[in-house]
Amino acid sequence: LHVVHIAAEMAPVAKVGGLGDVVTGLSKALQKKGHLVEIILPKYDCMQYDRVRDLRALDFEVESYFEGRLFKNKIWIGTIEGLPVYFIEPLHPDKFFWRGQFYGEHDDFKRFSFFSRAALELLLQAGKKPDIIHCHDWQTAFVAPLYWDLYAPKGLNSARICFTCHNFEYQGTAPASEMASCGLDVQQLNRPDRMQDNSSHERVNPIKGAVVFSNIVTTVSPTYAQEVRTAEGGRGLHTTLNLHSKKFIGILNGIDTDAWNPASDSFLEVQYSATDVLGKAENKSALRRQLGLSRANPRQPLVSCITRLVPQKGVHLIRHAMYRTMELGGQFILLGSSPILHIQREFEGIVSQFQNHDHVRLILKYDESLSHRIYAASDMFIIPSIFEPCGLTQMIAMRYGSIPIARKTGGLNDSVFDVDDDTVPLQFRNGFTFLNADEQKLGSSLFRRS
Ligand code: ADP
Ligand code: GLC
Repeated sequence: LHVVHIAAEMAPVAKVGGLGDVVTGLSKALQKKGHLVEIILPKYDCMQYDRVRDLRALDFEVESYFEGRLFKNKIWIGTIEGLPVYFIEPLHPDKFFWRGQFYGEHDDFKRFSFFSRAALELLLQAGKKPDIIHCHDWQTAFVAPLYWDLYAPKGLNSARICFTCHNFEYQGTAPASEMASCGLDVQQLNRPDRMQDNSSHERVNPIKGAVVFSNIVTTVSPTYAQEVRTAEGGRGLHTTLNLHSKKFIGILNGIDTDAWNPASDSFLEVQYSATDVLGKAENKSALRRQLGLSRANPRQPLVSCITRLVPQKGVHLIRHAMYRTMELGGQFILLGSSPILHIQREFEGIVSQFQNHDHVRLILKYDESLSHRIYAASDMFIIPSIFEPCGLTQMIAMRYGSIPIARKTGGLNDSVFDVDDDTVPLQFRNGFTFLNADEQKLGSSLFRRS
């Protein structure tokens, strides 16, 4: 098959969270099976260009429609992790992808609806005939209605559309009129059975549009697929998902076991594997030295957490885990940053409180290489999410021999199985889980031994 992913993230060059990991990991897995896989990304100024091989501009430009005019797009091609990637650079005065960050701009709806349409133009003008166009999250959800409305009639009709929603919390809704910018028909689409947001007649919802117009809709774990079909979990889209339940399925993500491999990971002090775990202790010692933590007791447990600090991730529980770990005589490392100012400030406050502490480190930034070193050094890893569509950090932690302590929700429920859960065969039990999102339950999971 010929599969084209249209996405806003791709690890390691443009990664904010798990979406980037999945776009790369899934593409590599499909390529290994013999499929032709191509990826289309925006050409962000803030990408890690040193990880793109053979980047060059093509000598053809793609014209795409926006706000009543045609704009030229410069098209670049390069290779990331052995995968062919097209980058779209809009020659638009608003410099949509020249902003120093991937998301969080006032005109994100405009930027990504522009990109979605330009990506389809690229496929059409380059004469490509993919079998599957796979779009992800609200940023490229526009592809589904655009494809059936404008591109299938123009001849780009070989493809079927697959849409994956990685998180129903982010729906990208906007006033209905904004949809016209990329050429979507407001009259036709701002209807309750199409793109109209379920809670406002005047707004459109890109995720809803993709659910309605795609041939298949997936989310990233079976448990989360169940949760979002309920009123409590569906973020207003449960009725739409139930209506389209025949084409909606939850498939558990996997991780890229080459990118995350302690036996070959060049970020580590020492490589190790499940059959030779001695190196894990050396990584623990090296990281403690690097971060200035006490090394007096090599057996002192090290508990870690690597995450975006947003309410979804159970920020108060992460904070509690830190204090509880110290009370219990362990060490704690948090690597994470927050797009939400008051959360970032709150954690900065904690950092200053513990600046020279022997047993706690909070590193409030995004740091790929440090994340690898932490996964390798940790004994335990906490993921106390309030909700979690899939979660990759628990899987990466397990790959590095760190035991996950997770709340039973979404994909965590499908991948972490409690050591004491006798409904699960012994060989699948791999961590500690707790159900209630409260400090007491998390605390006792940290204390529990088996
Ligand atoms: P989400 O996509 O909701 O953020 P996931 O668990 O699916 O959560 O994926 C998170 C990914 O981002 C993992 O690869 C994790 O290692 C990485 N990550 C999160 N925060 C940081 C950080 N501060 N520095 C480096 N990597 C991070
Ligand atoms: C989202 C979800 C996370 C999931 C990731 C990759 O960011 O929050 O749970 O693992 O996408 O699918």
